[in-house]
Amino acid sequence: MLKLENLSVYYGGIHALRGIDIEVAEGKIITLIGANGAGKSTMLNSIVGLVKSATGKILWNGEDITGNDTKDIVSRGLALVPEGRHVFPNLTVEENLRLGAYARSDHAGIKADHDRCYDLFPRLKERARQHAGTMSGGEQQMLAVARGLMSSPKLLMLDEPSLGLAPLVSKMIFDIIREIHKDGTTVLLIEQNAHAALEIADYAYVLETGVITMQGTGAALLNDDGIRKAYLGEG
Ligand SMILES: Nc1ncnc2c1ncn2[C@@H]1O[C@H](COP(=O)(O)OP(=O)(O)OP(=O)(O)O)[C@@H](O)[C@H]1O
Ligand SMILES: [Mg+2]
Repeated sequence: MLKLENLSVYYGGIHALRGIDIEVAEGKIITLIGANGAGKSTMLNSIVGLVKSATGKILWNGEDITGNDTKDIVSRGLALVPEGRHVFPNLTVEENLRLGAYARSDHAGIKADHDRCYDLFPRLKERARQHAGTMSGGEQQMLAVARGLMSSPKLLMLDEPSLGLAPLVSKMIFDIIREIHKDGTTVLLIEQNAHAALEIADYAYVLETGVITMQGTGAALLNDDGIRKAYLGEG
């Protein structure tokens, strides 16, 4: 479904991605783990056209979308829930959700996804008229995920959705990711919580300073000694 071929990104003199090759197969949950500064957010931002790549290709169902603008990419069915929430603080929950559907015009579909978001996140339904900026951190994270769903994505990309959340809320976000996936959405997940990410992932990549250094099934990486030491805090 999504393929990156030899993708490189520079920020001035910093070579943030150094020839990345990854593949996201339809219907799977794929995760990317890596230390702070490894280039994880850069990779997602370049997929949705927020960061320009210097070399390489981004292929979506075989079509080259490298360099396309973000609105075009979103309308093809890719959505990014960025790191650090980024909800619109002065708009209500409801208004934030509606903005998630800005690239769509299928009113019946928007209504169905809107209802589904409130089913998945009853807390948001209770708070529909509350300004997003006054919601708790966890609630804002729920809203960011729900807003991503409002674009009706075929591929939902999440950049550290559990960052800063209490364990119970974090678990709830992971449960919802499972549910979204069960409903037919492909997921590309970035997580500091490598253990939880590898547990739900079909396939995983390890990114170190801009290079993919390891890949395999979630289960294989969970059992790898090097991964356990470097990312799972064991040994
Ligand atoms: N706009 C920018 N200008 C200059 N350097 C940047 C910019 N954005 C990111 N970088 C650098 O590129 C590298 C990769 O950053 P990136 O945000 O992709 O890392 P990350 O893996 O998402 O890290 P984290 O886990 O901390 O979110 C870092 O060294 C960072 O300082
Ligand atoms: Mg990041």
